[in-house]
Amino acid sequence: MRVLVTGASGQLAQAIRLVWAEHELLLPEESVLDLSQQEAIRSVVAGARPDVVVNCGAFTQVDRCETEAELAMRINGTAVGWLADVCEAQGAMLIQISTDYVFDGTGTRPYREDDPVNPVSVYGRTKLEGERQAARCSRHLIARTSWLYDSWGKNFLNTMLNAAAQGKSLRVVDDQRGAPTTCRALARQLKMAAEQNWQGLVHTTCQGETTWHGFAWAIFEAKGIAADLSPCATADYPTPARRPAYSVLDGTRRRSLGPDLMPTWQEALAEVIDHPEFAKEA
Ligand SMILES: NC(=O)c1ccc[n+]([C@@H]2O[C@H](COP(=O)([O-])OP(=O)(O)OC[C@H]3O[C@@H](n4cnc5c(N)ncnc54)[C@H](OP(=O)(O)O)[C@@H]3O)[C@@H](O)[C@H]2O)c1
Repeated sequence: MRVLVTGASGQLAQAIRLVWAEHELLLPEESVLDLSQQEAIRSVVAGARPDVVVNCGAFTQVDRCETEAELAMRINGTAVGWLADVCEAQGAMLIQISTDYVFDGTGTRPYREDDPVNPVSVYGRTKLEGERQAARCSRHLIARTSWLYDSWGKNFLNTMLNAAAQGKSLRVVDDQRGAPTTCRALARQLKMAAEQNWQGLVHTTCQGETTWHGFAWAIFEAKGIAADLSPCATADYPTPARRPAYSVLDGTRRRSLGPDLMPTWQEALAEVIDHPEFAKEA
């Protein structure tokens, strides 16, 4: 397959570059495939003639989205429609990466694909619009994921490790529950989904659940670091954007579609800690 990936320097795009290496991969720089520019999308995608487009590019700074809502909607929402239209015209499959932040977090059991959405942030609203726009392409897969990280990229794992290395005291919220998910695990599942032509909306996170504090604790335990870590409440550290308190996603539909490659979040963390140099091994 010829595969075009947007948002090339992002952490998930980098995982796809490694995991999907047996396919013909095109990862144009963000300055070339700028999602805010309709003509750039049309000309780059039409020129590349991909079989599959994986849209990893997004305005992912959740708090900044609150003050830059128009740009966030253009990149996370409107641009997905432009991508969908050019994919449709070429018969390509569009894989859109979406988020647990489409839910409001008031649920008490893992969210299923058909549960009502109700985003509580600008970021969540723009990503939900992206889901709606992706459906303009008849061959579309919308993969909702959560709490992405890996040994590369700007993410919670690296933030925790850097802070601990600087000897900082860490207070981490213990009242938001979700599923930390490694980019490499998601990339493996998406590769299979593309090869098997999965369609529609599918929840694609690592299995199990924890809090941000529980995740931090597991990171330090796995690394053997005696960090100064303590739990706190979301209310103690207000942020511009609200986050869902509970955003665990139910993987039943994914398991019904084909082999489930998503490990538990603890197994995935162990892989990243034990094999941080995945890039060199791949
Ligand atoms: N990170 C998470 O926890 C998480 C959770 C659920 C879903 N997701 C979704 O998963 C996908 C991948 O996220 P990620 O964690 O890999 O994010 P990431 O590391 O922030 O990567 C996103 C990439 O998109 C690029 N980008 C921003 N504006 C762009 C534009 N106008 N045109 C082209 N590219 C642009 C960014 O470039 P700059 O860095 O230069 O801005 C960055 O390289 C996104 O759709 C995100 O919404 C992420």
